[in-house]
Amino acid sequence: MSAAVRRIVTNLIIGAIQKSGLKQSEQVIAKDAQRYWENANQNNFRSNSHWRGDQGLEDEIWFELGKSHLSLLQEHLKAAGRSKPLDRVLEWGCGGGANAVHFARIASEYVGVEVSQDSLVECRKALDEIGYHGFIPVQIDVSDPEKAGDGLEATCDVFLCTYVFELIPSPEYGERLLKIALRLLRPGGIGLIQIKYETLASNTRGHRWSYRRNLANMTTYPIDRFWQLTEELGFIPKSVVLRPTDRLVKDERYAYFIVEKPK
Ligand SMILES: C[S@@+](CC[C@H](N)C(=O)[O-])C[C@H]1O[C@@H](n2cnc3c(N)ncnc32)[C@H](O)[C@@H]1O
Repeated sequence: MSAAVRRIVTNLIIGAIQKSGLKQSEQVIAKDAQRYWENANQNNFRSNSHWRGDQGLEDEIWFELGKSHLSLLQEHLKAAGRSKPLDRVLEWGCGGGANAVHFARIASEYVGVEVSQDSLVECRKALDEIGYHGFIPVQIDVSDPEKAGDGLEATCDVFLCTYVFELIPSPEYGERLLKIALRLLRPGGIGLIQIKYETLASNTRGHRWSYRRNLANMTTYPIDRFWQLTEELGFIPKSVVLRPTDRLVKDERYAYFIVEKPK
């Protein structure tokens, strides 16, 4: 069988599996995710981790990526009349530092939580280059995200998470991350959390199958469901901003939620 025919057959099989609604278990997906992110030699690792340049993102795109995230937070802080400098920002899944280089300007300490040790090194490098030395790296296993919380309870002003919820093993795993966020934020602390949302089209639901092939579409939520979920877990949801198409990463269906931990 030629490579082209093999590809067509593979795609047909995958399409049929997706239509059938078959899903892998959370444990299997978590294991595959761990295997992918802990090895920087995997296909497209640098671009999927948002590293700068050299098989990662082009300089201009990389630099622009985190800017709009910082603006979202600053607009919220301004509207809420909050002008005090931030002590500690925690980013869940900091990758190559595309957010870090912008948010570090407004925080004395920047905690980067990662599955990938190589991305923690890369993020530190990006921060070193701008002369920032308040970086605190925290490595976790996909199967044990709660460990990131050790010693950081109620110490963070901001919990930031972008381009990560789509990669996690399941919507239930996302609930665990929201609970961790609630635990790590100070009273009044802010979560800026981006998800990939689903619509009525069935192909926008989380694929939950074949991690490497579908990693950016593992987990999705309906927008209203995610809003309710944050509320049920104890946050006060404040706003949601939609980005139906994302020209920077050439993807679609992103929603940014701003949520607050009650004072
Ligand atoms: C697409 S990058 C996003 C990087 C950065 N947040 C940004 O917006 O540029 C996704 C990052 O999430 C990390 N990641 C994947 N699964 C994770 C998990 N369960 N917990 C924490 N980080 C995770 C990956 O190692 C990768 O660096």
